Amino acid sequence: MPGHHEDIDDQVWPGAADLRGWLALLRERGEIRSLAASIDPDQEVAAVLARCDGRSAVLFESVQGSAFPLVGNTLATRADFDELLQCAPHDVVRRLGDAIASPVGCEEVPIGDAPVAAVHDTGEDLLSDLPLPVQHEHDAGRYLTSALLTVRDPRTGRTNLSINRLQVAGPRELRVLLLPGRLRSIFDEHERRGEDLSIALCIGVDPALTLASQSPAVADLDDLEVASALHPRALEVVTLPGHDTPVPARAEMVLLGKVRAGRRAEEGPFGEYPRTYGPAGQAPVIELTDRWRREDPIAQTILSGGREHFWVGGLPREARLFQALEAAGTRPHAVRLTEGGSCRMHAVVALRNASPGTANHAAMAVFGALAPVKLVVLVDEDVDVFDDEMVGWAVATRFQADRDLLVVPHTRGGGLDPSAEEGPTAKLAMDATVHPDKRSHHALMASRISDPSRLDDLIDHLEPGLG
Ligand SMILES: Cc1cc2nc3c(=O)[nH]c(=O)nc-3n(C[C@H](O)[C@H](O)[C@H](O)COP(=O)(O)O)c2cc1C
Repeated sequence: MPGHHEDIDDQVWPGAADLRGWLALLRERGEIRSLAASIDPDQEVAAVLARCDGRSAVLFESVQGSAFPLVGNTLATRADFDELLQCAPHDVVRRLGDAIASPVGCEEVPIGDAPVAAVHDTGEDLLSDLPLPVQHEHDAGRYLTSALLTVRDPRTGRTNLSINRLQVAGPRELRVLLLPGRLRSIFDEHERRGEDLSIALCIGVDPALTLASQSPAVADLDDLEVASALHPRALEVVTLPGHDTPVPARAEMVLLGKVRAGRRAEEGPFGEYPRTYGPAGQAPVIELTDRWRREDPIAQTILSGGREHFWVGGLPREARLFQALEAAGTRPHAVRLTEGGSCRMHAVVALRNASPGTANHAAMAVFGALAPVKLVVLVDEDVDVFDDEMVGWAVATRFQADRDLLVVPHTRGGGLDPSAEEGPTAKLAMDATVHPDKRSHHALMASRISDPSRLDDLIDHLEPGLG
């Protein structure tokens, strides 16, 4: 299917299409490590992933009790997102925004051509041979954390993808945390009619699909088509017997089942994105019916509270932030949700030519666009939002607490923030932009060399020691 991304040459992009392609690319770049030794899924896997967090992917070849290998930290660095989307670092947000604004149709392949449909498993036990780790000390049990929950939106017939924590409750049973969003409203609608919701859980997918699962909750958006728009070639999908919406044809495994109307069971606690535990509660129940898979599937886990969790959720939200700032009539130069705030709660926004009052206006657009954000620092475009030290510098030299601080009390927050004990949260904006008349006074000092290549030359000639 022709798309607006024909300009990207397939030859320079061997990683598209599926998880294996992506892992092969990581291997070529030396960014994946593998463990042949046997490992316990009870916290050992998560402890290794936490040690390698933000640095490398890890393939666990032999997880105790499991028939299949397991990969984690699949998107281990922010640079991985540039590679995945084949763009410069500051363009990731634009690429994500474009894919949501202009999705590209998928290519439906016959079931015989779909790698995921190589093996059809039926029977009473569909989970016990999977590597499903216990991640944290006080988690309620084993969790499937990487699956894309794939459902048909009955209002439009479009496909919705989301990632939700899934607690294993039996050989064919999972419990699912459904926070307010599109999946939750689709399920609520089915439940009101007394109907089960047909669901596919796709495991081991092209990371562009993982990103597309975080698209905004818009009824006529097809999240598969968002993934399709993120790559040079259309996404291959297949319709599996017994499921009403297509699934990625090149996934490693797909579990089919139903979210049961009227059923609830205890789920949680579970270590969440703020790096604290989310509480236990009564959650909907998924009963699995069958599964489709490759001959030799690779399972996947996302470390909850790890960098991959932060970025997969955070980057598409940065795209939303950028659009909200533009829609509010401000001129964003760059936006970032910082790792310190789990890429959910703290934002930095660089504005072009902010006139007096624009920073507060932008701050309110940020709070309105993303409920979990409780701190936003606003800077001018000469400050690199990706450099924590320079953001700190801007606060140190351009911000005065009695003049540049905005506090908004008692406002909707993210729900999992342990400091917001009564639910709502206070919001804080720090305006570290400079008044237009005073910009020259605040310019960052530098040593100016007329020929910049001379500096590189001098540095190249440095010798170790005292010469
Ligand atoms: C690793 C990861 C885990 C997540 N876990 C949950 C979860 O347990 N429950 C939930 O409601 N959302 C969870 N989310 C957020 C949703 O996947 C995200 O908000 C998605 O866009 C919701 O889609 P929807 O509005 O289409 O339902 C998680 C996101 C990530 C990246």
